[in-house]
Amino acid sequence: MMNHSQSTGADYNYTIVRQFALTTVLWGIVGMAVGVLIAAQLIWPQLNFETPWLTFSRLRPLHTNAVIFAFGTSALFATSYYVVQRTCQIRLFAPKLAAFTFWGWQAVIIAAAITLPMGYTQGKEYAELEWPIDIAIAVIWVSYAIVFFGTIAKRTTSHIYVANWFFGAFIITVAVLHIVNSMAVPVSLFKSYSLYSGAVDAMVQWWYGHNAVGFLLTAGFLGMMYYFVPKQAGRPVYSYRLSIVHFWALIALYIWAGPHHLHYTALPDWTQSLGMVMSLILFAPSWGGMINGIMTLSGAWHKLRTDPVLRFLVVSLSFYGMSTFEGPMMAIKTVNALSHYTDWTVGHVHSGALGWVAMVSIGSLYHLVPVLFGHGRMFSTSLVNVHFWLATIGTVLYIVSMWISGVMQGLMWRAVNSDGTLTYSFVESLEASYPFYFVRFLGGCFFLTGMLIMAYNVLRTVKAPKDSLPALAEA
Ligand code: HEM
Ligand code: HEM
Repeated sequence: MMNHSQSTGADYNYTIVRQFALTTVLWGIVGMAVGVLIAAQLIWPQLNFETPWLTFSRLRPLHTNAVIFAFGTSALFATSYYVVQRTCQIRLFAPKLAAFTFWGWQAVIIAAAITLPMGYTQGKEYAELEWPIDIAIAVIWVSYAIVFFGTIAKRTTSHIYVANWFFGAFIITVAVLHIVNSMAVPVSLFKSYSLYSGAVDAMVQWWYGHNAVGFLLTAGFLGMMYYFVPKQAGRPVYSYRLSIVHFWALIALYIWAGPHHLHYTALPDWTQSLGMVMSLILFAPSWGGMINGIMTLSGAWHKLRTDPVLRFLVVSLSFYGMSTFEGPMMAIKTVNALSHYTDWTVGHVHSGALGWVAMVSIGSLYHLVPVLFGHGRMFSTSLVNVHFWLATIGTVLYIVSMWISGVMQGLMWRAVNSDGTLTYSFVESLEASYPFYFVRFLGGCFFLTGMLIMAYNVLRTVKAPKDSLPALAEA
């Protein structure tokens, strides 16, 4: 790969990358602030203010949509548009269409931020938005695919760098998932009914849901990892061959694992067992990818002492490894019998979401922002370091508290007395969870504070005079 640390972006379309990079930080703060609010509502129900649009039930989907589709997806737009140009050594194809994907995506985010608190929802997790917004998403996503693959088709390099394989798979699969799962019959502007019903509806929904995890929250971010980890470490990818095996194994397996979300339901038993087995096998390529990322640091480990950006990237890989070990375990039916419906799932989600998705995005942005605005480094490296510790401690507080409360809930719900009656009422298990909800809330505050510090640091970097932030000499 070429050296571009001092590039001002004269030959590439950086405008769109800058726009998406900055909105990533903005939507990250909004989505996580709503996360902190709903975490607080679970401790202090008065914070629902007896106002329909401020209730937990409406703000929860606002949180998930904001963090996944506004924060996470903006990070993916920014990095994929950047990486595809740099590695194909060509300007972005169809710049007007690219601009449309930016403004269109912002319009979708605003529409979601208005309709979800108003209570308009299809009731499908991570696919709540009503049909007019779904159609807009499909149009924007197809435009995204045209811009991305158009750039690849016009490339001046002979091969397609592996990061683009992951981004490409993410773009195609999310289009297919979204379009198939959103099939619905509209009855008015804000109400529609799914084309599927009963167990089939559930199966399609979790085929979508799990592959949103697999292709959006995993494959896309692996694309990010395969570009920014080698760049920041100043080392080539540990094994290019492993990255190709990793890619094919991951996409071949993920697509089958959805039924692990529906253990012990009306789904045919064999589909549940198939989902379980595929999830267990999925452990291998997931760890193959993680090892490939971490081993890229061979010969550059000393950089971790001085470079907090690299620390973000490496710790994100450790959380990726942790959540992809935990996921296959939770997919085992007997384990899921304990974990399902409990906070253990929420802990697993956030070890992936905060530890992996958010941290790899933050690390990549700290690499990207100086390049995009013609600087050698961020305004303050010590603030990046403070952010790193806030994010790491915040994530650990969140997931450890949820593990403990989750396992405790599972055990309390299944405890029976010798006469066969339940040992604990549901309310008793809820009362026992409160201290852990408070720790989770604290963890969220840590993580959000880190994001606010990032916003300040990014703003100062954007506004810094030219040549005032030269790259630091290597330690
Ligand atoms: C400050 C950081 C965050 C806080 C305080 C927070 C808090 C919460 C809370 C309280 C819930 C509801 C849990 C429940 O219903 O019992 C939740 C759900 C969820 N959050 Fe977050 N969150 C944060 C960041 C994120 C990020 C960055 C992502 C994704 C990239 C994310 C993805 C999700 C998902 C997918 C769910 C639904 C989980 C499920 O259905 O099992 N969160 N979050
Ligand atoms: C090998 C990889 C993985 C496997 C096999 C796996 C497996 C699982 C299982 C078994 C559940 C619980 C289902 C239930 O009881 O309802 C789950 C939930 C979840 N996982 Fe994973 N997981 C993996 C990696 C990840 C990663 C990296 C993320 C990234 C953020 C993630 C995000 C989620 C989300 C959002 C849910 C909650 C879905 C919901 O109920 O709303 N998973 N996963």
